[in-house]
Amino acid sequence: MTDTKKSIHGEWSSRFAFILAATGSAVGLGNIWKFPYITGENGGGAFVIVYLLCVAVIGIPIMIAETMMGRRGRQCPINTLETLTEEAGANKNWHYLGWLGVVAGFLILSYYSVIAGWAMAYVVKAFTGSFSGESAAQISTLFSDLQASPVQQIFWHTVFMVTTMAVVARGVQGGLEKAVRFLMPSLFVLLMLLVAYAMTTGAYMQGLEFLFKPDFSEMTGDSVLTAMGHAFFTLSLGMGAIMVYGSYLPKGVSIAKTSVLIAGADTAVALLAGMAIFPIVFAHGLEASAGPGLIFQTLPIAFGNMSGGWLFGVLFFVLLVFAALSSAISLIEPAVAWVVENYDVDRKKASIGMGFLTWVLGLGTVFSGSFFEKMDYLTANLMLPLGGLFIALFAGHVMLQKHTQAELALDNETEYVVWKFLVSYIAPAAVFLVFLHVLGVFG
Ligand code: PHE
Repeated sequence: MTDTKKSIHGEWSSRFAFILAATGSAVGLGNIWKFPYITGENGGGAFVIVYLLCVAVIGIPIMIAETMMGRRGRQCPINTLETLTEEAGANKNWHYLGWLGVVAGFLILSYYSVIAGWAMAYVVKAFTGSFSGESAAQISTLFSDLQASPVQQIFWHTVFMVTTMAVVARGVQGGLEKAVRFLMPSLFVLLMLLVAYAMTTGAYMQGLEFLFKPDFSEMTGDSVLTAMGHAFFTLSLGMGAIMVYGSYLPKGVSIAKTSVLIAGADTAVALLAGMAIFPIVFAHGLEASAGPGLIFQTLPIAFGNMSGGWLFGVLFFVLLVFAALSSAISLIEPAVAWVVENYDVDRKKASIGMGFLTWVLGLGTVFSGSFFEKMDYLTANLMLPLGGLFIALFAGHVMLQKHTQAELALDNETEYVVWKFLVSYIAPAAVFLVFLHVLGVFG
């Protein structure tokens, strides 16, 4: 079946193009904005270890599963699940899993766009020299001023959503490949530069200790859930983003190796961001647990004080916006692909409609911090892990072994057996146990 089947939305031009796009999806605000602030809120090192473990044991096997399912089904996640369910002769209800993902992507993008809008506002602040020579307190005021201005936030939220939907309307293959090719290396270089600056703050070791020295007494059940949820969020898993990108993947590409590579790059970016930010936090007596504003209250201090900081500040926030854009596109692509596949509507109209709905919901985040917190908890901590749990069960227990084996085409049997064991038992059990733990089942 799959030998002849192609996606109606086109294909990536090569394996490298898929790697770029999937890395573009994975690396985003999750790495640079969210990872540092939730690490700060959850006590540092122990949280980081749980997150890394989740990436390795749950994230990578599920990324392999999603990519494989997408490539075999060749459609948006909802229709892919239908096709694969039929192929396996399983219960039709599995396609609701596709729905869960589409809704999750839509909910996430609503707040994601508002935060990306903050980054856009910071491009302008950097450009007009707002950081230069400012104290930590003055930098904090810049952020609280933005928070106090719904007009500014709505403006940037609008600009970001329009840009995202303009790219999605054109089809995600063309531009994305080119953009990510220069984006990722540049972002990496700038993060290294920030880490180098962090070394001069006098609190570098303190920052590293916070990030890497575990103190498990800091971990609550909710911290474990947040760490696990973040592994899904940062790798774009559990909602079909990677599945839909997998559906544009040509045959004959090694899915397993590719997934390890993408997860590795994603993790490296997050850790670098942490290594840049925490030394600045401690050097200036700021609160590690300051919340979603953390990067906006710390990194501008670095730009304001280093030589060439004006240029680097502008570059950094521009790159952050692009990183957010390449993630945002993948959040809404499953929904748009679904509309195009099921109704007589073209990509452009589908994008405008979806974009508008997302934009409206985003206003909730503009006007209410607690709305954002609830959305974030619902999506990242509950919907993505739940989606991932079912994706793992589907790939491990519903799909036929001969199909998964053919699709993954691993060179050696052991690799397949390891993947199959992780995805069938370990990943689902881990998600399930963390859920039980949070529900207080273990007392
Ligand atoms: N992985 C993206 C980030 O870290 C966010 C994302 C989540 C994108 C889920 C797609 C799907 O910023």
